Amino acid sequence: MAVLIQITDVHKSYGDQVLLDGAEVTLTDNVKVGFVGRNGTGKSTLLRILLDEEDIESGQVTRHPDLRIGYLRQHDPFQPGESALDFLMRDSQQPDWKCGQVAGQFELKGGYLSGPVSELSGGWQTRVKLAALLLHEPNLLLLDEPTNFLDLRTQLLLEHFLRSFRQACLIVSHDRAFLTATCTHTLDLSRGKLTMYPGKIDAFLEYQKERRDHDIRVNATIVSKQRQLQRFIDKNRAGANTASQARSKQKQLDRLQTSEITADEPTAHIRAPVVQSRQGPAVRCTNLEIGYRFPDGVPLRVATGIDLEIEHGSRTAIVGDNGQGKTTLLRTLVDSLAPLEGDVRWGHHCDIGTYAQHVYTSLPENQRVLDYLEYQAMAGTTDQQILALAGALLFRDSHVKKRISVLSGGERARLCLGGLLLGTHNILVLDEPGNHLDVETTEALADALLDYQGTVIFTAHDRYFMQRVATSVIEVRDGKARNYLGNYDAYLYSINKEILAGERAHKSTPTNTQHVKNSSRDERRSAVRDHRKMRKELSNLERKIARLDEQKRKTNQLLLETADPEEALRLHQEVTATSEALGVAENRWLELQELLSETEPVD
Ligand SMILES: Nc1ncnc2c1ncn2[C@@H]1O[C@H](COP(=O)(O)OP(=O)(O)OP(=O)(O)O)[C@@H](O)[C@H]1O
Ligand SMILES: [Mg+2]
Repeated sequence: MAVLIQITDVHKSYGDQVLLDGAEVTLTDNVKVGFVGRNGTGKSTLLRILLDEEDIESGQVTRHPDLRIGYLRQHDPFQPGESALDFLMRDSQQPDWKCGQVAGQFELKGGYLSGPVSELSGGWQTRVKLAALLLHEPNLLLLDEPTNFLDLRTQLLLEHFLRSFRQACLIVSHDRAFLTATCTHTLDLSRGKLTMYPGKIDAFLEYQKERRDHDIRVNATIVSKQRQLQRFIDKNRAGANTASQARSKQKQLDRLQTSEITADEPTAHIRAPVVQSRQGPAVRCTNLEIGYRFPDGVPLRVATGIDLEIEHGSRTAIVGDNGQGKTTLLRTLVDSLAPLEGDVRWGHHCDIGTYAQHVYTSLPENQRVLDYLEYQAMAGTTDQQILALAGALLFRDSHVKKRISVLSGGERARLCLGGLLLGTHNILVLDEPGNHLDVETTEALADALLDYQGTVIFTAHDRYFMQRVATSVIEVRDGKARNYLGNYDAYLYSINKEILAGERAHKSTPTNTQHVKNSSRDERRSAVRDHRKMRKELSNLERKIARLDEQKRKTNQLLLETADPEEALRLHQEVTATSEALGVAENRWLELQELLSETEPVD
């Protein structure tokens, strides 16, 4: 295990906003670290510091001489007209076969490699950028919100890739599911301090909560002890025989200190416009054909024969891979793109508010936060209302004077949403609203949408958000758009299954398949033997699961009782390890159950 990069006692601020206040962290070559923290705490800034693109006020950043950082940039590194392959060869100085081989890992082949890279959709361009990163053979990958513009399929592909990547990664993300799937460690930035936790994001959040609850309980005990001592001292201070005892109790009292419990960081408060609930279809599409028209009138069809109805009060998620036409469908629905054929008919009095993908990149860079909100507000909105909204969105004090150009990703997204929510729309069309928002703000947005009486049509790649918010799912795929039969979980399951099937097909040899097809009597006998083995493993597993469960319960109990922080950390690590072992055992149990039910031998 080698130390790749170490930062010691680093300080960094912008004006009176302190981002790093004696921050310390060590990154080694064998860990995958999820980097979390609220919007605007300084995560992107820290990445820039690691890349040596940003100055620090004091402290040290020490890099291993062999450090090779691969950094996934948000801006486009492509030149006009070049193909993906041209770009990979130019960027990496590697031969075409090598570039093709690495690109193949991201399913980049054929037209995707030889066609102009600038015409690829966001998800495919990200794949090209990832292939370029790998060709430089980095030993530390820095990814800043890599899933932001990725469809689910590319996201899952990236997960599979990162899991098999053998080097270190530091991944900024607000997407818990993605972090859980890819990272083993968690780095947290809050109030200028970095904390490295040797566990996954959920374990870290649980640990944080348990520590806090524990501190609160310990403090309560200390306060009651303090009161008791104080009473004794007051009563016995003056007595000739008791004064010395009172003095000793006073010393005891002086030693008893409560520990400081940090207040929660403020969370944005998002309130959707109050509108009347309505019945019936909000929008109906009949025989709709969506796409684009070249200047000579020739149509480029993205999807055809769409017959859909979206009910008032529903919250419809539009899902599909990048480039399949989710945004095209949304744009056609909100009339920013004319249908090639067919009809989009909205009900009466539908007032549509739109939050579009990449909207924050087109914000007026030079405007200040407050000016922007004033500009967006309806006539008649008072200054006080605007300031209150800015405050609810966490633009307080000097923050309202910030220029848009210096805002962090999440701050920009918050500002755009703020502008939208100042209106009175009864239909909200939101294209990837959760991009850039931290977990708490996304929750606040989901809460607001659950309270909202109007209709929501949205795309999002955050699975948790989608599961919470969506009441129905429309899938755009292979030139069709249809109401997906089944809920969001069912949809997710089927995609995962396809990816796994692809991997299995890749690994299994043709003779293997033949082998299965021509199953002989011998093989059936061996299948029966295998079954017995599986059943035995299954019952062993059941015992193991019960034992681990009990162990976890006991360790958790000790964790709740201990007052020693080091002991608490050790116990917490033990709980995490037991939970992981439990997870592995439970997964294997499920797998065996499935295998047994699929392959029950006939004789
Ligand atoms: N040049 C600057 N002048 C003033 N403030 C700045 C400047 N650059 C960044 N900031 C502020 O520093 C803070 C940290 O920004 P940074 O982009 O590092 O946040 P982040 O943790 O990556 O947030 P997010 O999760 O939203 O991406 C933000 O509040 C931002 O407004
Ligand atoms: Mg950032």
